[in-house]
Amino acid sequence: MAKFIVEGGYPLVGTAKVSGAKNAALPILAASLICRGQIRLRGCPRLRDVDNMLTILADLGVCCAWEPNGGLTLDTADGVEYVMPQRISKELRSSIFMLGPLLARCGKAVCTYPGGCEIGNRPIDLHLSGLSALGVQIREERGLILCDGSAMRGADIHLDYPSVGATENIMMAAVAAKGTTYIRNAAREPETEDLQAFLNALGCDVSGAGTSSVRVNGGLPPKAYVQYDIMPDRIVAGTLLCGAAMTGGEITLNNVVPQHVGSMLSKLREAGCVIACGEKSVALRAPKRLGEIKMIETLPYPGFPTDMQAQFFSLATIADGICVIVENVFENRFKHGPELTRMGAIYTQKDRTTVIRGVKELTGAQVVARDLRGGAALTLAGLAATGITTIHEAELIDRGYERLDAMLCGLGAHVTREV
Ligand code: UD1
Repeated sequence: MAKFIVEGGYPLVGTAKVSGAKNAALPILAASLICRGQIRLRGCPRLRDVDNMLTILADLGVCCAWEPNGGLTLDTADGVEYVMPQRISKELRSSIFMLGPLLARCGKAVCTYPGGCEIGNRPIDLHLSGLSALGVQIREERGLILCDGSAMRGADIHLDYPSVGATENIMMAAVAAKGTTYIRNAAREPETEDLQAFLNALGCDVSGAGTSSVRVNGGLPPKAYVQYDIMPDRIVAGTLLCGAAMTGGEITLNNVVPQHVGSMLSKLREAGCVIACGEKSVALRAPKRLGEIKMIETLPYPGFPTDMQAQFFSLATIADGICVIVENVFENRFKHGPELTRMGAIYTQKDRTTVIRGVKELTGAQVVARDLRGGAALTLAGLAATGITTIHEAELIDRGYERLDAMLCGLGAHVTREV
């Protein structure tokens, strides 16, 4: 069990480069199964979730190797197994991303229900109904999901909800379906565009990602060698910007697409931060005391991301006035609230809504990371608090941040890790 020990009171100052995006890397790693050859990924973050995906890929017969310069090569030339390893798949929500690519590559797939952070009910009905619309025969046996995609054909699919994972899974399966597939009410998250760009680099024909209608022309043979750069992580960027805002800091982040963090920047400006955007950079100067953010409502992109809700919750605890946060995407994503209370935060919650009244300051305490983003939010609270904050179970934070402790120390924070 890892711990972060944070000595508060040091503003984040300086320049940092944002890592590649976890949520782009995970589906792209799965999509590598579609290619029969060599793939070289640059900017793939070294995270626990990525390691777990690589373990699954290795189990399926893919040779994976990190290069000394941080590149990642995947050799998918040889035969690929279609039965996914059960134990590790259960640990990782993103294991479900293998389903579409395995169907595209092998025509069949066997998997289990996936695991992941406990942030509410995370069903996969939209994944399965989308695949079944493509003609995949799906049955369940002893907790396993058995899929036969030998007769996949293009279809017009309307998602009841713009699920990121379902959109991506259907995109990946549809590249091998005969004819054209349309995904309506598709997720518009930038990571779907990155997956589209990767699939097209493989020789597939996908268009429309980033809009609510994605089109896939299936049946094209994939290329044998592809090199691809993973997009920057907008959630890592947002987390560091929140940290600077909460500590009265001044930072510049490189490798950020400002448009991807637009909804966060608008809230940070509302709180009084001065922000300047370059083509691929964002600079933020925090006010002495953060002003009121009246309302945050999480929504599918381009709305405010649920993956930034916890960090802004943390920020609102030390801002002026009252902030109402409505969590529309996941129903159990306020587990950081009671932990922040130990540090002096004041809020009330009913169902998916919290009302936070900003206090003058937080004080260091012993807190527990309950999920990935909540853990990051507690770390930010520790930076802004007086005294020492210990974040237990910090290994959950490693699922989504490449050494958040080191990243923060690089910007002047005092954070030590104890294993
Ligand atoms: C992805 C992100 C995650 C982010 C989330 C929402 C990755 C690896 N993870 O997760 O970090 O928090 O998008 O932006 O990209 N749903 C169903 N049925 C389904 C699928 C989803 O009801 O078959 C519901 C979920 O329970 C949830 C909502 O749809 O309430 C959003 O889920 P979804 O967009 O699918 O998120 P993920 O792809 O799991």
